[in-house]
Amino acid sequence: MFLTDEEKGMRDGAEGEAVAAAMDLLIRYGDALGAERLVETRNVAGTMTQPSPAKRRLFEEGGWAKAYAVINLDCDREIEIPRMRVPTCQLQHGFGPDAAGLTKYAPESIELQGSAESYYSERGVNILATCTPYQVGNLPVRGEHCAWMESSAVVYCNSVLGARTNCEGGASTGAASLTGKIPYWGNHLPENRFATHLLQADVSVDDFQEWGMFGYFVGETVQEARPAVIGELAQPDLADLKHFGAATATSGGVELYHIPGITPEAPSLEAAFGGRPAPEPIRYGPREREWVYETLNGQGTSTDVDFVLLGCPHASLDQIARIAYLLEDRRLHDGTELWVMTPRALRTMADRNGYTRTITQAGGRVLTDSCPAMSKAAPPGTRVFATDSAKQAHYLPAILGIEAWFGSLDECIDAAVTGRWRGGLS
Ligand code: F3S
Repeated sequence: MFLTDEEKGMRDGAEGEAVAAAMDLLIRYGDALGAERLVETRNVAGTMTQPSPAKRRLFEEGGWAKAYAVINLDCDREIEIPRMRVPTCQLQHGFGPDAAGLTKYAPESIELQGSAESYYSERGVNILATCTPYQVGNLPVRGEHCAWMESSAVVYCNSVLGARTNCEGGASTGAASLTGKIPYWGNHLPENRFATHLLQADVSVDDFQEWGMFGYFVGETVQEARPAVIGELAQPDLADLKHFGAATATSGGVELYHIPGITPEAPSLEAAFGGRPAPEPIRYGPREREWVYETLNGQGTSTDVDFVLLGCPHASLDQIARIAYLLEDRRLHDGTELWVMTPRALRTMADRNGYTRTITQAGGRVLTDSCPAMSKAAPPGTRVFATDSAKQAHYLPAILGIEAWFGSLDECIDAAVTGRWRGGLS
């Protein structure tokens, strides 16, 4: 791989051992990918503070420096970790103190995470603690090269913001934050950003649930390719696109999609395909929609719901406001829990606006930092849960061995206050 003089200097130790280890990792990684060079990034989103058994063991052996060296730099020497060279943020991590005692999630993990947070924030990592960094201040601009992890964030970054990132891992983001470099391949290359497939909605895609269902179909259909979507699409908002992208990255591995006239790199269908003729569309009609609904509800048998989960990807302030509105002067069913997951910064605004109070008075909780799928924990005794998120409906039954119902926000709130699932496809 071609290296600039600056990069060679970093590799050879001009900026210290940690940067040299980071550059060595990026060179090996880039060579394995066939990248011809590195590209500068000033926007890294990783998962340094998220606890894991391996991190705990390494921390106990040699502190956070050792954990970072081994996990994020693939280096087994004892090295000092300097301040991050470029702006870096922490994505979602494990449950935080606000979830202590609510689940079987280990208190030691919350403590470990607190210790990691102090260490990394001293080194310049912004603890956003969310899968939606773009909702709380990390908003790259169109064309900006980024190094992000988290599939739902990556697809939003590429598609909605028009910034450029591959779906990175702990090691490559760790090395990128210390060098400000990432291999120039995949989604960074302009020629790899045009659509490959065309999908046409013949049914109306006009609300949060429908965008999630359509996304699930698109991901299942194109897997890791790049879809352009057209048809009966109502104007989406941030939450719709967040849900759509997360669903495409759940049933498939979509990292970039185009909606002509909506997303920034597709002012037109022609532009989405880079001037090449668009292929014949794959149709999403009533049968396909029903298939998605049946698939996402394939795990539900009992209609007794003991847990309702909202906020995957993490809820926006508008979504929390809507939940609060629906819960005004109502009480949750005895024995049914409701959790709304959101970034901590938005929780502060929800507190300020009184939304948290309304949700809490009804018996629900607004929690931050993580989610049941990520922390592998739900309220004790959960057997059946309901959600408006295609991603959680897909993953949580396998992760926790529980039944799932997927539906609209209104149906989920109804389940929370009645303890019964009464949803259905209209
Ligand atoms: Fe976020 Fe958890 Fe969903 S990390 S995207 S809320 S699975």
